[in-house]
Amino acid sequence: MHSLHELLKDQLKDLFDAEIQFSAMLPDMIEKATSTDLRQGLSDISENTLENITQLQEVCQLLETAPTGVTCEAMRGLIRETTQTTGGQGDTATIDACLIANAQRIAHYEIAGFGTAKAFARCLGKSEAATLLGKLASRAGDHDKMLSYIATGGWFSTGVNQEAIEGSTSH
Ligand SMILES: [Fe+2]
Repeated sequence: MHSLHELLKDQLKDLFDAEIQFSAMLPDMIEKATSTDLRQGLSDISENTLENITQLQEVCQLLETAPTGVTCEAMRGLIRETTQTTGGQGDTATIDACLIANAQRIAHYEIAGFGTAKAFARCLGKSEAATLLGKLASRAGDHDKMLSYIATGGWFSTGVNQEAIEGSTSH
């Protein structure tokens, strides 16, 4: 850690690895989900995560670095917890609620990671990189809001949490 520029490059490599890990986890999450809204939501997140990977490559190009060489240990932990959900048994609505809990923790990690990287890039005068990172942060924010909506419901549904209150007794 010798300068903010070096730190930013390191953070980008970490984020790149985090997105690769999440992207590899998402198909199992989609398969495990029962709610149609959740399946659709996770599919959208999956598509966006692939786009994030491409855009992080672009940001790395702008900073003249390769996105490889770092393992994101935090995402490893989050993925390990998610694997417990996808491998678990029980009430389908409760499993959906748990998948949402896992995905929202990941979304918040992304918001923090992309937001910090954006601030570093802006500080270094890398405005194009900062703009791209800002888009990634707000996309993660959109995912978080969408997951909250699926969990707590709205006009057209009561939400996964409400369904999970009943648990296996109603299924
Ligand atoms: Fe990380």
